[in-house]
Amino acid sequence: MSSAGAAQVTTDRVRVRAPGKVNLSLRVGRPRADGYHPLSTVFQAVSVYEEVVATAADDLTLTAQGPGAEQVPLDDTNLAVRAARALARYAGVEDGVHLHLVKGVPVAGGMAGGSADAAATLVACDELWGTGLAREELTSLAATLGADVPFALLGHTAVGTGRGDLLTPAMSRGEFCWAFAVQDEGLSTPAVFGAFDALHGYQPQPSGGAPVERDDEVDLMHALRAGDPVALGAALHNDLEPAAVTLAPRLSRPLAVAREAGALGVVLSGSGPTVAALARSPQHA
Ligand code: C5P
Repeated sequence: MSSAGAAQVTTDRVRVRAPGKVNLSLRVGRPRADGYHPLSTVFQAVSVYEEVVATAADDLTLTAQGPGAEQVPLDDTNLAVRAARALARYAGVEDGVHLHLVKGVPVAGGMAGGSADAAATLVACDELWGTGLAREELTSLAATLGADVPFALLGHTAVGTGRGDLLTPAMSRGEFCWAFAVQDEGLSTPAVFGAFDALHGYQPQPSGGAPVERDDEVDLMHALRAGDPVALGAALHNDLEPAAVTLAPRLSRPLAVAREAGALGVVLSGSGPTVAALARSPQHA
């Protein structure tokens, strides 16, 4: 499964998985008045998952387990809590829920683990509370929570425009093998976008940032349709990579190690700091 969807239900408990992602291409424009950047990106879900177990409760509470769980805030700032509150508000639900997160995606790694928690929480609470929202309603709620949350609901492969939240599904064949170099310390997404602006001398545009000049990603799309890892490796691209390396110079090492190990392509995942290396086979990965 590579989207947040199939819920496993018992009477008062729902379990939903949602995938992390890698941006195969990420092109970033000048910031808009609200500070967000117009993007043109190609997302692909990867088989690294977040799991959310939602249990009926009187209040709204949260626990987390798994690698890096101690770094996850358990208060109202957590995206899963915000997702549950947003759904309750929208659907007029007064029930509570206990959310338990089983972290599989690196925390603050640029692979949208928090967004996957939010997407899985929307699906789980929708089932638990019997609110039965349409997919479009869940997607609209997802977009209010963060730019990457709609993709975590949709999964598979998609082109993202706008803030990355306007999605068009894309075709991808076969299987690609990745090795992810996870870092001990995360990078803040706003800080990386800020460093990107500083590198380019960009200021927020009062009139709203123009859409990013679209590269139609002909080579990338062809590589995906053909299931061709060599062509995909050559087409990987991330405009945020120089900014992330400026903030975290230590990233140049995993980037270089992956290239020396014969990766078909190496790219920073999202705003980093996870480095994604495309391998020839599971053994090579
Ligand atoms: O939407 P999300 O909460 O994931 O975004 C986190 C931050 O990343 C935003 O506050 C913004 O600073 C930056 N961002 C951006 N342009 C985007 C997506 C995110 O500048 N398209």
